[in-house]
Amino acid sequence: MNTTMKTLSLFRYMFLILAYAASSLHAQTQSMQTSAPAVRERIVLDADWHFALGDADNQQRDFDFATVPFFFAKAGYGDGPASPHFEDRTWRTVELPHDWAVELPFDQRGGGNHGSKAIGRNFPQNSVGWYRKTFTIPKEDLGRRIGIDFDGVYRDSQVWVNGFYLGTEPSGYSSFHYDMTNYLNYGASNVIVVRVNATLEEGWFYEGAGIYRHVWMTKTGPLHVAHDGTFVTTEVDEPAAGHPASDVTAQVIVENDGENHANFTLVEEIEDAAGKIVARSVMDNASAAPAASSDYRAKMAVPDAHLWSLEDPYLYKLVTTIQSDGKQVDRYETTFGIRTIRFDPDHGFFLNGKRVELKGTNDHQDHAGVGVALPDTLNAFRVERLKAMGSNAIRTSHNPPTPELLDACDRLGMLVLDENRMMGTTPQDLDQFRRMIVRDRNHPSVVLWSIGNEEWSLEWSAFGERITRDMQAYGRRLDPTRPFTVALSGSGAGNSLATDVLGFNYYVQHHIDEMHARFPLKPVVGTEESSSEHTRGIYADDLAHQHLVAYDFEADGHHASVEDSWKFYLARPYAAGLFYWTGFDYRGETTPFGWPAISSQFGMLDTCGFFKDNAYLLQSWWTAKPMVHLLPHWNWPGREGRPINVRVYSNADAIELLLNGRSLGRKPMPRNSHLEWTVNYEPGTLEARGFDAEGKEIASDAAATTGPAAAIQLIPDSEKITADGESVSVVTVRVNDAAGRMVPVADNLVSFGLAGPGKIIGVGNGDPASHEPDKYIETVDSVPDLDWRTVAIDSRNSDPESKPGFDDTSWDKARDPRWDEHRVDPPASVFRGQFILPAGAGNAAITLVLRSVGEMQSIYVNGHALGVNLARDPIGYTYKLDRDLLVEGRNVVTIFSTRFQNKGEQLFHWDGPGPAAVQVVTPATQWKRSAFNGLAQVIVQSTQRAGEIKLTATSPGLQPAQLAIVTQ
Ligand code: GAL
Repeated sequence: MNTTMKTLSLFRYMFLILAYAASSLHAQTQSMQTSAPAVRERIVLDADWHFALGDADNQQRDFDFATVPFFFAKAGYGDGPASPHFEDRTWRTVELPHDWAVELPFDQRGGGNHGSKAIGRNFPQNSVGWYRKTFTIPKEDLGRRIGIDFDGVYRDSQVWVNGFYLGTEPSGYSSFHYDMTNYLNYGASNVIVVRVNATLEEGWFYEGAGIYRHVWMTKTGPLHVAHDGTFVTTEVDEPAAGHPASDVTAQVIVENDGENHANFTLVEEIEDAAGKIVARSVMDNASAAPAASSDYRAKMAVPDAHLWSLEDPYLYKLVTTIQSDGKQVDRYETTFGIRTIRFDPDHGFFLNGKRVELKGTNDHQDHAGVGVALPDTLNAFRVERLKAMGSNAIRTSHNPPTPELLDACDRLGMLVLDENRMMGTTPQDLDQFRRMIVRDRNHPSVVLWSIGNEEWSLEWSAFGERITRDMQAYGRRLDPTRPFTVALSGSGAGNSLATDVLGFNYYVQHHIDEMHARFPLKPVVGTEESSSEHTRGIYADDLAHQHLVAYDFEADGHHASVEDSWKFYLARPYAAGLFYWTGFDYRGETTPFGWPAISSQFGMLDTCGFFKDNAYLLQSWWTAKPMVHLLPHWNWPGREGRPINVRVYSNADAIELLLNGRSLGRKPMPRNSHLEWTVNYEPGTLEARGFDAEGKEIASDAAATTGPAAAIQLIPDSEKITADGESVSVVTVRVNDAAGRMVPVADNLVSFGLAGPGKIIGVGNGDPASHEPDKYIETVDSVPDLDWRTVAIDSRNSDPESKPGFDDTSWDKARDPRWDEHRVDPPASVFRGQFILPAGAGNAAITLVLRSVGEMQSIYVNGHALGVNLARDPIGYTYKLDRDLLVEGRNVVTIFSTRFQNKGEQLFHWDGPGPAAVQVVTPATQWKRSAFNGLAQVIVQSTQRAGEIKLTATSPGLQPAQLAIVTQ
């Protein structure tokens, strides 16, 4: 192309875009006359995203993204999938939260720390995901501020709306927000596009890929509470009485995005949990200049405060309303709790004036079956599992969590150490840190901030001390109510000199008492402990399968046992307590194994949330309800007469062990420890009975030698779930013997069927080396380029060109008129394209989608008419193709058309993806999962329809099971 031609082409291209922009502007101007509703709406945008993998290295497979001139040079020039005109009807439809990494196969070339999924540097074809969502904005919304909130996208996401670039968010963990107001079509359709690049890793653990948290659209009036614009602080006298007097201070930022000066009244109301208003503040005569924001502060007395505590997590709501010109123009709700917290250098942590030992766990985000895409109810399930173990605190290692996890912790009574991803003081680092604090600082569950974890280049350097001081000072400006810590792998220099609270990872790596003596004013907490590796239900190491015994064995010199760790901190009441590494097993970090192990084994619970023996060990120290737990199982054929190490974990005062009814002795149960016996194996029943101080039996546990696997049992965590398309029931799959006892070594493969208003979203079994899929989903392929040829014709609309055998080799390749401004389209044309149906496409469903290629068109596949004389249609045409019309191999699509009156109507590239695409959907195979040591898990999610879900489980040779879950 010579220079003149190039200039002309570009001019023409710009003209087309401008013509398009002008037409949508026209639509907007018209709708300006109607008045907009002004109160706030927050709409979840989880449904109906179209998804396809792009490619991190290959331009064509990345839909020719970012290849046209001006792509990043001018506003509104998003191209490829970023263009509003891109055809995505053949893409897969997904709902958020969505993690595409968990759908991929395991592969040794995938990062072992990342869970060995086929993603990352070695898999560019699996590492970029595109999401597109079409939505309508009513014309009445013109004049409102409309924003989009992403709770979290893993990672490096770029967002466009209607072809306008909104921004890039590198973090896979920070929530982010864009204002879309000026880029929307009002009274018309809009498309939001997200390109996600999960090639690089941020952490050294499984991180998933995609829009794995919720997305929200927020609509407000021009005068509104700013994004994350409230901060509620409370003052209560300590030690607190049952219902003490409290002062609640509400800080609110009001923004005026309107064009005029605004006078308004700001009303703050505190509602108790029953919705009763218990305090109120009215600020009259407030005003805000246009394009300005201002801060307001109101102090309200709550005379009879109901405190938030672990046992009674009582929540209040601050309702902020803005009234202007006699109308309510904004209403913003902030959930908060009234409680006091204090980290004391000599006495540990205090909640509401009472010392609380932090009995914590560290947790990453992923769960069996779903990767990092956890529905809210699954996050709540995990918090409940940790509480059942007696835990009262979570450290969100090593990143800001999904906000819905914090909601669950507020509601259920769980303390949180909220952690920043990486330390640094660049504007980008501080902005991520800021977003975490302003988003999370109203949660009563959050009691401590962590600015980072094991930052090795900062632990021994002057950089570390400086960066820590600056970050904490910056953080304190945003939240003066909570202290800051750093989780340290080494201490004595660097950042450990500057941190508010000394956070120690692994006492064996530090001189904690010396540090306490050296820094007597700094509180201490064990941010990580133990890191011992155990597999659920394994009592003899099986290295060939990467399985490690579940007994809590003593320290190996690097890490302490679970029991040693607890005793270390119990003996140091100056410290606030500890966080075990980890609560749940997580994918990745497969120490001490590499491939083929795919998940860690540090958890007290496995990836499904099934208790390992260590969870019972903690339960015996951390809970008061009488319990006894006995290990190992009692299925040891071939080991008759040989010694077995038997342990009992209990909170009773004494334990008696019995084998087949014979007492093997009664021993006092040591506190914060365990009991051991050596028992020569004989089949039968081993029983541990727990007695209180008076000798009354209060709890027991038994391990019986079971018969062979005979039946499946399905046990839901909830038999009723909400019909909201979001709630889940977490179903335990148990393999039992004929007497209904779990077979502790069963590994039967179980298949699942589901009928009714629900779906299975994932399966797991907690085996750290299982390569069975987490998901069974349909595959959706599309053939976007049909390699179009064309010739001018008279006005015919059929034969003979529609016949597959017709020879079109002399025809021209169809070309894009946008690049040839001298071209005059003939009054009528015929176009022939082709696609190959691969052998073995079997039961695939084939759909052809087309756009209008002219004013009138007739469409044929292999000579069969699909539509004749169809008028131009902005939505286009969709045909599910009858398999009888198609042949394996080459299939021909023919379009007879008359040309567009206005060439600008053509919004596709003939020489790119073209006006048609073929979607090939291969249905999912049946869901299945092997039991691992007797157990597996199926996660069932509701749809929005009420009714009864029937889940069935079958396995050859076993009695099947059926379960009903009601959705309402
Ligand atoms: C710690 C680290 C954790 C995890 C753990 C495994 O040093 O902070 O993220 O890697 O070791 O033992």
